[in-house]
Amino acid sequence: MKKGYFITLEGPDGGGKSTQIELTTRFLQEKGYDVVCTREPGGTLSAEKIRAIVLDPDTPIYSLTETLLYLAARAEHIQGLIAPALEQGKVVICDRYSDSTLVYQGLVRGLGLEKVKALNDLVVDGLTPDLTILLDAEPNRLLLRRDTRGVTDRFENEGLAFQEKVRDGFVTLAKLEPERIKVVDALQGQAEVQEVIQKLVLELFK
Ligand code: TYD
Repeated sequence: MKKGYFITLEGPDGGGKSTQIELTTRFLQEKGYDVVCTREPGGTLSAEKIRAIVLDPDTPIYSLTETLLYLAARAEHIQGLIAPALEQGKVVICDRYSDSTLVYQGLVRGLGLEKVKALNDLVVDGLTPDLTILLDAEPNRLLLRRDTRGVTDRFENEGLAFQEKVRDGFVTLAKLEPERIKVVDALQGQAEVQEVIQKLVLELFK
């Protein structure tokens, strides 16, 4: 039985998820919560190995394969890390989860939302986040503030039109589940974004 809280952060690339996850983790730890910070695809040894394949731009794979790999990574992640941590009453904060699969593979890659949702439902078996924070912004404005890590993956090579479809996909999902998915303007300052997130999280814990 799940006793903890499961929080996910979602949104287009470059929206500042990592920074906000770090800040939120610190905030909650200072309040005495036991926080587990993780990411998808990844989070366990096996899922990180799947991540290396699925994000490698030099290993072309078909859309269906890609979807199944994200889901395989998720199955490992849930059983190996998320579910046990929640059972122990911890707060799990995850960088991306099911909504990313619904958007990237279902809506953007064109496999279809219903089909991908059905596959994902099999994998997550009811383990839905208690709260999902969507760090939302127009991709062209996000591009302007992108850092220069020099790292590229399969998606970062796809360009602006792709990122716009991603953004639209997340906004569509947020409209379908406004209770769970809270849209936060990612173009505000870091401190302002963090303040909104803290409010949403404390609201959830009430
Ligand atoms: P990552 O480098 O973590 O990107 P970001 O910093 O933007 O989160 O790579 C994750 C990429 O994987 C990201 O571009 C979105 C993609 N992805 C999917 O396509 N489907 C999924 O189910 C998940 C979890 C991620």
